Amino acid sequence: MCGIVGYIGHRQSQPILLEGLKKLEYRGYDSAGIAVFTEQGLEITKSVGRLANLEGRLSGDPLKGTVGIGHTRWATHGKPSDANSHPHTDNSMKFSVVHNGIIENYLELKEELVQAGHRFQSETDTEVISHLIAVEYEGDIVKAVQKAVRKMRGAFALGVLTEHEPDRLVAVRYASPLIIGIGEGEKFIASDIPAILEHTRDIYILNDGEMAVLTREGVELMTIEGNFISKDVFHVDWDLMTAEKGGFDHFMLKEIHEQPKAYSDTMRGRVSEDGRSVALSELSITAEQLRSIDRVHIVACGTAMHAGLVGKTVIEQLARIPVETDVASEYRYRSPIITPRTLVIVVSQSGETADTLAALREAKRNGARVLAITNVVGSSVAREADDVIITLAGPEIAVASTKAYTSQLIAFYLFGLHLAQTLGTQDEAYIARVLAAMQSLPEQVERILAQGEVIKEVAESIAHNRSLFFIGRGLDYAVAMEGSLKLKEISYIHSEAYAAGELKHGTLALIEEGVPVIALITQEELQEKTLSNIKEVKARGADVLGIVNEGAEAEIAKSVDTLFAIPRTLPLLTPALSVIPLQLLSYYASLSLGHDVDKPRNLAKSVTVE
Ligand code: G6P
Repeated sequence: MCGIVGYIGHRQSQPILLEGLKKLEYRGYDSAGIAVFTEQGLEITKSVGRLANLEGRLSGDPLKGTVGIGHTRWATHGKPSDANSHPHTDNSMKFSVVHNGIIENYLELKEELVQAGHRFQSETDTEVISHLIAVEYEGDIVKAVQKAVRKMRGAFALGVLTEHEPDRLVAVRYASPLIIGIGEGEKFIASDIPAILEHTRDIYILNDGEMAVLTREGVELMTIEGNFISKDVFHVDWDLMTAEKGGFDHFMLKEIHEQPKAYSDTMRGRVSEDGRSVALSELSITAEQLRSIDRVHIVACGTAMHAGLVGKTVIEQLARIPVETDVASEYRYRSPIITPRTLVIVVSQSGETADTLAALREAKRNGARVLAITNVVGSSVAREADDVIITLAGPEIAVASTKAYTSQLIAFYLFGLHLAQTLGTQDEAYIARVLAAMQSLPEQVERILAQGEVIKEVAESIAHNRSLFFIGRGLDYAVAMEGSLKLKEISYIHSEAYAAGELKHGTLALIEEGVPVIALITQEELQEKTLSNIKEVKARGADVLGIVNEGAEAEIAKSVDTLFAIPRTLPLLTPALSVIPLQLLSYYASLSLGHDVDKPRNLAKSVTVE
């Protein structure tokens, strides 16, 4: 995700901003920039690519001044480019803004501004903010920011400077993190602690809806409505590595905990205000083109392919179109039947996986329309597809994918509903019901995460087994496959995922005394059948952990050895919850075996060879 750093003090700001941005590199970014008050006024230098490119530009022409803001951008609106990099400014060039988050209503706001004569240099939502602040400015930057913020919907952390008031730096937090650093005669803002840890360990952590006005001497804290507030100073006693991981021991655990936010961010702006319909305004595919689709192919690798297995059921159930999900490395070589009426959906966190990209090209060569679900704006997959749904999981650093997978599920739910809406395969009330249930998912995930310790105990008890099995039916089977892959990737324990009813056709021979079997039993209409399969493994000595819906514990308890209950949602949405305990299970199993959780042996985050 984007990184913000800001400085007001007595030292040169440029090196402090650049060093701070470097400390945020772990968050991932595609471009960077800084704005500094120099003797000439507010000057901005920015560059697409690595920070070294920006440093290169600044080395010949440094920005000299003691107040500045800096930003590393992870593209969400508009491709990575010099123009789309932050800081952004208004037409008078007197205001400058860095921003993390997404402004949902930026198109509406931009349209109004364009009609009032404003000219825009970028495709970003952020540039709209600098124009809005300029419009609202009547001699007090704090008031102008408050007025502008009231017009904005979405998530934002902001750093704002104006040439009219060079001794003030304004910071705002609304659903995107921001902290204030307190030094002697100098103050800082940052989206994360590592950026300023070298300079101060005393910070204020802003909450949503709060803002801060920084001068060299002090910090005024207030709500965005303008009511003054006071806060305790938080003293950071972590080292830099722990700070980068947000206080978590590993990136994987941090990313598992980021899932509620990833769900909300991926849904944000894509559901109508009344919550009754989906609004995927980024899609250029017309209703008529959607109606002409007679089959869907979902193509991906690894975890993304597992999201595609859920996607198959989602689309088939919601839109009644036949769907096949394929491993990308197999797709091209099986001579798939692709026609202009085929929609090919490629799913890729990185957007750079060689096999997925090759499948995309094959699909296009055969005249199919391609929709990409990816986490990286401007990636090869995003550029070459006809349509793109960006998952807003933020950069994923751990090799084992967690938040990218669940955000891909959210993207499939949204697209499935969009199709159903367009084709008329589901009525409005049902679509509204699914959307309402989706809005509850982030809070339900939080409830599962709060039970991490329970899963940790189970993980420690299975970690020394040589082999184990995941079973389930329907969507539970799709999730079982992801749970098994996760475990293999980071704990190196052999495991297999089996359709619960298929076990007896061979694999049951491997079940013996003490073999752990993790059974997903969340699909109510299949519960009876899965319970019969559990009896088969129990009769051969298996030790069964059941993942069940809250409320079903009493009924299922007698059939399993251990139970873990997940909050109740619609059957179609359960994968977005049932996978969470499985992610935690792999994490804690790997941890207890002493493996390198974030960088497992033999694996790479992005695989760009076929
Ligand atoms: C690698 C990663 C997996 C990922 C797969 C596909 O194998 O280790 O976690 O699922 O590539 O990556 P993509 O970026 O296309 O989703």
